[in-house]
Amino acid sequence: ASAVCKLMPTGFLSVGRYQDVLSLLQNSKHFSNTGYTASIPPELRSPGSASASIVQMDPPRHGKLRGLVTKAFTPRTIAQLEPRIRQISHELVEAVAGQRECELVQDITVPLPMIVIAELLGVGPERRRDFKRWSDDSVSSLSLIKAGNVAQVKKSAQEFAHYFSGEIELRRREPKEDLISLLMQAEVEGAQLTSEEVLRFINTLLIAGNETTTSLIGNTLVTLTNHPEVFEEVRANPSLIPQLVEEVLRYESPAQCIFRQTTTDLEVGGEHLPQGSIVLPLLASANRDESRFPDPDRFDIHRDTQGHLAFGKDIHFCLGAPLARLEAKVMLEVMLSRWKGLQRVEPEVAWTSSFFIRSPERLRLL
Ligand code: HEM
Repeated sequence: ASAVCKLMPTGFLSVGRYQDVLSLLQNSKHFSNTGYTASIPPELRSPGSASASIVQMDPPRHGKLRGLVTKAFTPRTIAQLEPRIRQISHELVEAVAGQRECELVQDITVPLPMIVIAELLGVGPERRRDFKRWSDDSVSSLSLIKAGNVAQVKKSAQEFAHYFSGEIELRRREPKEDLISLLMQAEVEGAQLTSEEVLRFINTLLIAGNETTTSLIGNTLVTLTNHPEVFEEVRANPSLIPQLVEEVLRYESPAQCIFRQTTTDLEVGGEHLPQGSIVLPLLASANRDESRFPDPDRFDIHRDTQGHLAFGKDIHFCLGAPLARLEAKVMLEVMLSRWKGLQRVEPEVAWTSSFFIRSPERLRLL
């Protein structure tokens, strides 16, 4: 296949070979993260977007912000969440375990990351339904607006901004033990995040963290229904779960692609890319490139998955990767200890229609 393909009708260019995707992600000078946002009309952007999201910034601004938020998001902080993630997982699994048939997307894969982020941010259970609505409307704002639901998107964005602005001010006066307080206190070279930046970062967490983690757990369950022998193997030996999760990240990458814009004319894989092109590095394609992963379409939890690009690479490498891995691991441990088998009701998997998220829309099990 050609190294670069034009995607119609958008005119975006896609890059799919492992080595090309890797080089592109390591070249933030020529492949900018800012361009894609600039191409979205202001009325379609997400709440708090007067300031850009971290994922839409280039150096040096990106590095400064990343330095600040990383302090509140260390692997050690995330590891401390394990007991609570286990408790939530148990509650969710117990609620469906007795049923003759269950739907795991609504009952398991959507609620877990949502509840974890809500608790990290200090949102009380009484506001969880609102939080889910704001999050859903923000994640699907583009399609909602296209369908004429502008008022719904605006209302959710305003409620989100109103609620969290209040919470941010409360934490500024009286810090607590939650992520917002940590974000408010983080300091690099005398600089701190403004309230607007904290608000924007909270919104980024919802967009970057919820749907992708839902997808990772859902894709793992789908793959296990397709490979009962792996289910048996991992159930008998739960220490294989982290390997299972890494292979699912490679084989069914939740974020199928991300966005970049060229800052100059350049070549990729021998193809000319004019300045200003919107380029989609296809992470999922790179993760199935046979030059990097032999026999790539074979699902094999014992293969070497190192170097997969499911969380991106280099300066924008996913900040939430330790959290996503932990949630997937713990939920699978709980499910495998409770269930003796996984049998899908529908033979065909109903995947979401999004071109950049790979995730089952629903997953009914017997
Ligand atoms: C960045 C994937 C979960 C927060 C990224 C990027 C990818 C990614 C591919 C790079 C974007 C780019 O280079 O343009 C995933 C996947 C996840 C996941 C597959 C789940 C399986 C999470 C979670 C959080 C999170 C749980 C937080 C709660 C972020 C943030 C960035 C990011 C803040 C931006 C980092 C930066 O620009 O420096 N993620 N993500 N992600 N992710 Fe994740």
